[in-house]
Amino acid sequence: VYLTREEEKMLEGEYGEAAAKALRLIVRVGEALGAERLIKISHAHVSGISYDNIGEAGLTFIRDLYEGGGRASVFSTYNPAGVEAWGSRVIPVEPAFWRKQIEIIETLEAMGFQRSMTCIPYQLRRPNLGEHLAWGESSAVAIANTLYGARTNREGGPIALAAAITGRTYYWGLHLSENRKPSVVVELRGAPPLGELEAGILGYIVGESLEGKIAYIDAKMATVRSVQALCAAAAAAGSTAMCIVRGFSPEDEGPPVAAEDKITLSIKDIEAKRRDISSANLDEVEIFFTGCPHHDLDKIKDILRLLNIQGIKRLEKPIWVAVPGVYSSRLRDLAEKLAQRNVLLLPGTCLVVTRLGRLVKAVATDSVKTAFYLPRRHNVGVALASLKSFVRRYGLR
Ligand code: F3S
Repeated sequence: VYLTREEEKMLEGEYGEAAAKALRLIVRVGEALGAERLIKISHAHVSGISYDNIGEAGLTFIRDLYEGGGRASVFSTYNPAGVEAWGSRVIPVEPAFWRKQIEIIETLEAMGFQRSMTCIPYQLRRPNLGEHLAWGESSAVAIANTLYGARTNREGGPIALAAAITGRTYYWGLHLSENRKPSVVVELRGAPPLGELEAGILGYIVGESLEGKIAYIDAKMATVRSVQALCAAAAAAGSTAMCIVRGFSPEDEGPPVAAEDKITLSIKDIEAKRRDISSANLDEVEIFFTGCPHHDLDKIKDILRLLNIQGIKRLEKPIWVAVPGVYSSRLRDLAEKLAQRNVLLLPGTCLVVTRLGRLVKAVATDSVKTAFYLPRRHNVGVALASLKSFVRRYGLR
């Protein structure tokens, strides 16, 4: 890997022990992949910061970098944690787990990371077209490449952390223009614009069947949130890191002329896949979960609006909503209002990285990414359903 004079100095320790260690890690991975040089990045986003995921080894890695003088040299954010940002209101955790998780968060913030606790870093800093990033959350990676035309590979937690400190990553994969072209077309015929749930199911099919190839998605999407759901599900079900979505992706140049393959689907295939993914039904679920990826403030207000329009005073079974931890203080009043209706906000966390399996046995969700992970990680049954259908079923007037 070719290094600039500045990078050589960093490697030799002129910018401190942690920066040298971090750059060594990036160079080693770059060499293994065949990268010719490094590239400066403008935003690092670190995933895998739940103590449930990384345990003592991960905490020690972060602490050592901090103690070695490691500081974020670019705008840096971090993923949801294994606890709620405002304390255990909904999901109980043991005091020892809480302390370890808080130490991880405090160490990252002492290193200069923005208070974030979210998987939607694009809401905290909007990526620009062609900009280089080093992000480690698979859904956010796919969204950055697909919706914003920014450039990032799917980085592991340690690499994203090393990139935050050095301000660089290896110049390889999706950082290069020639690797960002779609090679396969996925067409959805005769379907109305897809909402989040249906778009997520389409994403699941893309991720599962295309082994990380870049697909040109020729389907109507109802909203940007539908595209985000598609990306999140494709990234969970396969190694998808980018799609081109007709009408939404800034790098859309039309379907590839010499596509390797074309998959044609209908709305019946989407419905069949929904049944296939679901392992529980609406009657047996204990909660509805939404906010994977996290919901922003507008979406939370939409939920309240939906309850008002339908005249719902309270829900018989709760709705849990994952939102960015960084919004927690702004959300207190709204959270009170929602809690009276049995809608509970979970700031800074998500069901996949918590200890959910001890609490419930079956969950309804409109997130296909959640539906992918909950049975695998927590042995929890999942019913894929829209929020509206849950509200109709469990709303009390
Ligand atoms: Fe975010 Fe957790 Fe889903 S990190 S994308 S809410 S699995």
